Amino acid sequence: MVSFADLYGASPEVIARAPGRVNLIGEHTDYNDGFVLPAAIPLHTEVALRRGRGTRVRVWTTAFPAADPVVFDLDVSARAGDWADYVRAIVNVMRERGVDSGMDLRIDSNVPLGSGLSSSAALLVATARALRQAFSLDVDDLQIARLARRAENEFVGAPVGIMDQMACSLADDRSALLIDTRSLAYDRVPLPEAGALLVIDSGVRHSHASGDYRIRREECRRAAHALGVATLRDVTTSDLPRIASLPPPLDRRARHVVTENARVLAAADALRRGDLGRVGELFYASHASMRDDFEVSVPEIDALVEAARRVQGVYGARLTGGGFGGSIVALVVPGRERGAGASIITGQNARFSAEARIVVPAA
Ligand code: GLA
Repeated sequence: MVSFADLYGASPEVIARAPGRVNLIGEHTDYNDGFVLPAAIPLHTEVALRRGRGTRVRVWTTAFPAADPVVFDLDVSARAGDWADYVRAIVNVMRERGVDSGMDLRIDSNVPLGSGLSSSAALLVATARALRQAFSLDVDDLQIARLARRAENEFVGAPVGIMDQMACSLADDRSALLIDTRSLAYDRVPLPEAGALLVIDSGVRHSHASGDYRIRREECRRAAHALGVATLRDVTTSDLPRIASLPPPLDRRARHVVTENARVLAAADALRRGDLGRVGELFYASHASMRDDFEVSVPEIDALVEAARRVQGVYGARLTGGGFGGSIVALVVPGRERGAGASIITGQNARFSAEARIVVPAA
């Protein structure tokens, strides 16, 4: 494995890490000012950094071991269309916070790319933490999340919400983070001892810089406008009759967001009561809503969720993340993670060409 010293001839000054995340419930609600409930996963992105004298930034990743470091200027203002755009983006937004020299970076991550587990937010947050430490910047974890989101929205050009950056910056893997994305207030909801998380990557890749995510956002904006509210956060399940009269597909899109917000609050409540059966039902209901109303699932993901229903020791399962591929999250009886995961995957890999695999628990 190529070390920092192999690349740059010196040791790093700081090493920072950030985890990937799995969203337990609350999908496509964050850009509608709604509720989400993500948790950190035990997979991380690690960034090693050493400041330099001039304005040259060099960055290398273990993901492309044969490639030379990517080089750009500290005052970078445009993206280049490669993976290093996330690093350019966070350097760009943290420049005004006091990043005042070039640097060398080495990135190493075991968060799978394009699997709905926030590899991009983990990279942004880990790099932001390394910058904070190396340049002694006065930014707290919530500010890091906001800067990371700005980097992704304004520089990378992916119109994502704040969930992933907040999860990667603030969550741990023993509790879920109940976030009100309108106020950015958050609460830690401990994960009960009687439940364990299983995450299976469908092997179908997605990208949120691409069209479908953008289209859903725009449909939500149009639905809110037609309902005469600022965002879909401002309507609730008591507005469902009114929502039903919107022209399709806006009726279905709004129905998903409104019912999903209610499910997030119900799931946080059920977790606090230790009622995992109820959490499981909410997972399945959330999945059905994403599949039928929000239409962001794919056959591979639906098959994994259906397989989970037939496996002993699974409380519930659903598509996690933005969709159009990615992963499922399941809540299972502790000790059953691997066995349940193996049963769910059996059959899947005979039916589809994309190869499904267990991501959490980590190997
Ligand atoms: C992606 C985005 C998040 C959120 C989810 C869907 O992960 O980055 O902001 O919108 O999709 O819940």
